[in-house]
Amino acid sequence: MRIVLLGPPGAGKGTQARRLAESTGMNHLSTGDMLRGEVASGTELGLLAKSYMDRGDLVPDSNIISMIQIHIGDPAGVLLDGFPRTVVQAEALDEALKQAGTPIDKVVHMSVDTDELIRRLSSRALCTDCQTPYNLESSPPAVPGKCDRCGGAVVVRDDDKPEAVSNRMNVYRQLTEPVLHYYRSRGDVVEIDAIGTPDEVFAKLSQSIGAGNSGRPSN
Ligand code: AP5
Repeated sequence: MRIVLLGPPGAGKGTQARRLAESTGMNHLSTGDMLRGEVASGTELGLLAKSYMDRGDLVPDSNIISMIQIHIGDPAGVLLDGFPRTVVQAEALDEALKQAGTPIDKVVHMSVDTDELIRRLSSRALCTDCQTPYNLESSPPAVPGKCDRCGGAVVVRDDDKPEAVSNRMNVYRQLTEPVLHYYRSRGDVVEIDAIGTPDEVFAKLSQSIGAGNSGRPSN
């Protein structure tokens, strides 16, 4: 399966994609996680990406497309989280999938109101090693500052600071909502209300992709 998760910053794309990848064996491709990995490793791409990411701007399309293209045809299936984010990226994805002979199965739009998004982002922290997200109010790590999964350092992302969050919301409206219209015009989009506990959202998401509550495809 090829599934695209679309939604504003803080909608829960990463949280749900991780769960779905665990239960289905699909490859979770998060361009945000990949870029943070490049930044942490100090690569040329990481150095370029950091300035865009810290401001909440998008990294140039050409860098993103070449970073992700190689993974698109993965026979285990892919869950795309944070990509495509511009119409140029969506067109490049269509072309790559055409060449791989594997069309998109579902585009899922996760919607959450702005107040809830800001509440989630302002209390979010992240493991710098394995990228597991935490909410410092509702689901903090058992030991403050230490990842439950891998023991790595849990920190607040630079782009979760208020100015960057406000810019990310604007960038989403200007550059990523047109991607939603691009897929809607083809009738490809399944809508889910991504408010509720992560378990409740997972149940809605699994149902929307025909995977049952376990996340496993039903056919
Ligand atoms: P990226 O990491 O993709 O950021 P994002 O899309 O802004 O998404 P987030 O990670 O903020 O939110 P999410 O929807 O994954 O929510 P999460 O599950 O974490 O990108 C970062 C930057 O990289 C971009 O700004 C850009 O610079 C660059 N970039 C990335 N991809 C790019 C691309 N394709 N092109 C160009 N540039 C690109 O959850 C958020 C919080 O809410 C967590 O604390 C979580 O625990 C909590 N939470 C989740 N679900 C629930 C729930 N149901 N109830 C309550 N709390 C919840």
